Amino acid sequence: MSTLVVEGSQWGDEGKGKITDYLAQEADVVVRSQGGNNAGHTIVINNEKFALRSIPSGIFNPRIKNILANGMVINPKQLLEELHGLEARGIKDYKLYISNRAHIVLPYHETLDGAYEDYKGSRKIGTTKHGIGPCYSDKANRIGIRIGEFVNEEEFKECLTNTLSIKNMELKMLGLPEVSVDEIFNEYKEYAKEISKFVCDTSLLIEEELEKGSKILFEGAQGVMLCIDHGTYPYVTSSSPTGAAVPLNCGIAPKYINNVLGICKAYTTRVGSGPFPTEIDGDLANYIRERGHEYGTVTKRPRRIGWLDCVTLNYARRVSGINYLSIMLLDVLTGLDEIKICYEYDLDGKALNTVPATLKELEKVTPKYITLKGWKEDITQVKSFDELPENAKIYIRKIEELTKAEVAIFSVGPDRSQTIKLKELF
Ligand code: IMP
Repeated sequence: MSTLVVEGSQWGDEGKGKITDYLAQEADVVVRSQGGNNAGHTIVINNEKFALRSIPSGIFNPRIKNILANGMVINPKQLLEELHGLEARGIKDYKLYISNRAHIVLPYHETLDGAYEDYKGSRKIGTTKHGIGPCYSDKANRIGIRIGEFVNEEEFKECLTNTLSIKNMELKMLGLPEVSVDEIFNEYKEYAKEISKFVCDTSLLIEEELEKGSKILFEGAQGVMLCIDHGTYPYVTSSSPTGAAVPLNCGIAPKYINNVLGICKAYTTRVGSGPFPTEIDGDLANYIRERGHEYGTVTKRPRRIGWLDCVTLNYARRVSGINYLSIMLLDVLTGLDEIKICYEYDLDGKALNTVPATLKELEKVTPKYITLKGWKEDITQVKSFDELPENAKIYIRKIEELTKAEVAIFSVGPDRSQTIKLKELF
């Protein structure tokens, strides 16, 4: 039995798609355990770009079982669009399984997501507006609709009628048009028919695979700093993207989690609002943004840019069980005279080595930096750690020292071949 969790260790968009795709070549099963189509993984295969939203990165390999587990919130319409899009590009031979316990996102969740953001005004989260938060709220409020009910017409109609009796009160309260049961039912029952062939108890399926000794890759969405519990609340998503949450989100025992690979960029980015201690702007931020193509996959928003923050990385390691790191986009930093790494925060004159719980405190911290020399050599063709320029090696070793996690992979370009593995993880 061998399992590996791949998770974002910053604020999302670290390049998880690329690493999952790379490691998926060795996996038998790839599982998405949380989030929904708020995620956007870009994968480049033979110079062709694929943007995945809800579907796991193993979908391109006909041998791999791809699972959408119970912790996910699934928009059936979007999922089918994504699948049809892949099929239209020749990806027809795939294995897909959807948990009967995952929740479904319906149009009123998206409406409410937008309405709450507008209502919050300057305090808005900057969500993707895909209804993720309202869907998880319904789950916690016990008025959500799960895939198991969704694929049974009678049960779907009954659940929808009950839920809408409450949701329509909420919509009315916010001055929004009410939603009719029939309108949603008539459209979505068709999606349910198409999806039903993929639906099963994925917890059982994963256990069977574990018992067979399969290699299972758990593909995280978002990143630890967007975790509903441990992230920069309230500027977070509505689920937990940590390795620690994988057993719950997949219906398996914690003992099955062997390794957790935290993906981080060689610098930091963030989309949406919220504190970002190492944020930089001006020419330097533009240089990194343009070289790293730092624009959202889903929303196309320019990402905020900052130096690598090893306080948050070390925190992410601690709260989510990261034991290995994968450093992405190292080549983006090529050409800089100096590179800074944040090793500690200063909060009211006191040294702080962890992320404070409150926004007020996090907004007040001043990052303390170590300044390292940069490198000018092109590293995009490098095939091993030894081939890196000395200053790039020093940079990687410094990250290991500050985060207490071993660097197992680094990446010097978008292609699969530009991913250098230093350690076997499966
Ligand atoms: P939501 O998940 O759409 O509710 O958005 C909540 C916060 O998480 C916002 O700041 C989003 O920008 C951020 N977020 C959600 N999904 C991703 C992602 O895949 N990458 C980066 N940020 C994300």
